[in-house]
Amino acid sequence: MKGEQNGEARIPRHVAIIMDGNGRWAKRRFLPRGAGHRAGMNRMIPLVEHIFTRGVKFVTLYALSTENLSRPKEELEGLFALLREYFFDCTEKLKRKGIRLKIIGERNLLPEDIALLIERGETETASGESGTLFIAVAYGSRQEIVRAANKALASAGEITAETLSEAMDTGDAPDPDLLIRTGKETRLSNFLLWQSAYTELYFSDKMFPAFENKDFDRALADYAKRNRRFGKV
Ligand code: FPP
Repeated sequence: MKGEQNGEARIPRHVAIIMDGNGRWAKRRFLPRGAGHRAGMNRMIPLVEHIFTRGVKFVTLYALSTENLSRPKEELEGLFALLREYFFDCTEKLKRKGIRLKIIGERNLLPEDIALLIERGETETASGESGTLFIAVAYGSRQEIVRAANKALASAGEITAETLSEAMDTGDAPDPDLLIRTGKETRLSNFLLWQSAYTELYFSDKMFPAFENKDFDRALADYAKRNRRFGKV
């Protein structure tokens, strides 16, 4: 598979994170769910910075699934407001740090102003060479696979593992080496299903707003001990 790397794994090149547990974090504090998402965003920003300082080159965050789009209007509006704030405020900072921003998913399902902020963020950070930050927004992996299959067929004339990999939204990145899910659940929830065929999975009981940099380092230490065989002996 793409980006295959045999034997002892050390620093992963690509880390994906399912940022789950914002709602439960808020509920336990008698706060509205929106406060949990804000706390999630406040955790996400320094965590991403920390991850890149550890030598990781690609980070993919699951911020909003296609299915999440049917959450109650009030919660969705709160999430959209956070996305606006993030893309408005963070583009410049990412650019300064040489991080290329790329949004994966179906941005046509988002309010137009957010789609425009995304476009601006991607354009302004396009030449970043220190790392790539993928944020999955209005994203569903099955939907991505269907889109990619149609794209591969139209451009390459056939669907092979290689043409499909290249046609995925993460097409210019290696497959994730490590996928972390916070919030105690142990499933993939329609996230990077094609790309994570040989990804090492790590589940944390911590709710995302409580997932500290040192928890990430623990996941890295766990990953470093794994022997990746990619189906071989
Ligand atoms: C899942 O927790 C989390 C989300 C649906 C939203 C994630 C968003 C952020 C971390 C902040 C905003 C992101 C950006 C990119 C600005 P949940 O609500 O399903 O939690 P629960 O399982 O405890 O209910």
